[in-house]
Amino acid sequence: MSKRLISSPLQGFTDFRFRNAFHEIFGGIDTYYAPYIRFGGKLEIKNSYKRDLDPENNRVPELIPQVMTAKAEEFLHAAEYVRSLGYTELNWNLGCPYPMACKKGMGSGLIHDAEKIDTILAQVHQESDITVSMKMRMGYYEPTEILDVFPVLEKYPIKSIAIHARLGKQLYKGSVDLDSFKNCLGHTTQPIYYNGDITSVEAYRDRVERFPEVDTFLIGRGLIADPLLPSMIKADSTKFPADSVQKMYEFHNRLFDEYDAFLQGLSHLMSKMHNFWEYYSVGFSNPKKVYKRIKKAKNIIQYKIAVKEIMQEEEAFRSR
Ligand SMILES: Cc1cc2nc3c(=O)[nH]c(=O)nc-3n(C[C@H](O)[C@H](O)[C@H](O)COP(=O)(O)O)c2cc1C
Repeated sequence: MSKRLISSPLQGFTDFRFRNAFHEIFGGIDTYYAPYIRFGGKLEIKNSYKRDLDPENNRVPELIPQVMTAKAEEFLHAAEYVRSLGYTELNWNLGCPYPMACKKGMGSGLIHDAEKIDTILAQVHQESDITVSMKMRMGYYEPTEILDVFPVLEKYPIKSIAIHARLGKQLYKGSVDLDSFKNCLGHTTQPIYYNGDITSVEAYRDRVERFPEVDTFLIGRGLIADPLLPSMIKADSTKFPADSVQKMYEFHNRLFDEYDAFLQGLSHLMSKMHNFWEYYSVGFSNPKKVYKRIKKAKNIIQYKIAVKEIMQEEEAFRSR
């Protein structure tokens, strides 16, 4: 059975520009989850989310919007909005670890409250025909928190439960807890997807071997660090294709040009690209040196020269 790969969303990174360029240059991803819609007090969808989800801006095969909320009325508002754009599924984020969100009982701060999850899902399913899927961690403090949520989810036609095998309190640090993830598999009949630290073909193979019943895997940071990864997984190859650096250069240049056209001012552009390189540099043979070089560039000319040299050196390294 061939496995499916989902692009796990990264707020601030995997917007429509990233997704389109990724799909057209690298491919290998079957479905893209969009970064979450969040409400700032008002029942209103912000323009940045509208732009990101606009079907006219999106050219990937399948895009699934996401919402992060602990209120049924916000969920329903997001559901109605995405339905109006033609989407049929809305993914619910119960994974975000940020203390600001968790303190308000959102993201992974909601996992311990199975009763509230039940109330929200009951209202959503009563008032909307949207298909709901979940993206969760195993808990905020304990990996057993999720076990009380499974029976609640079983009451509804939940399409899938993607689980990032960490706890909220870990943020993005520490190791994934593969034993607790394995334990989840025996506690629900609904489809579980795996997420967490798939950063290489070997890591992917390891997860497939451990969890043969899982047919869908999410890749987040690994997609930026090694954008060739999904296509190499699909080709079952651990060898970079001959044009890997060329493609990485093209991808970078396309994002740079699109952000340059969209963002106001050099400082916004540079800060966007610096953030991008924080993850992108990880896939290079000397990540620290690469990131340092990017940060040292003070203007666009210096930046472009630095990128060109980085790509040339990587090309030389990979063709050794
Ligand atoms: C900067 C950043 C932003 C993220 N934004 C989202 C988001 O909007 N929605 C979501 O479900 N997960 C979000 N995540 C979590 C990732 O999608 C993913 O679940 C997590 O990084 C674990 O997968 P990985 O080890 O493959 O990166 C974010 C993670 C990071 C580091």
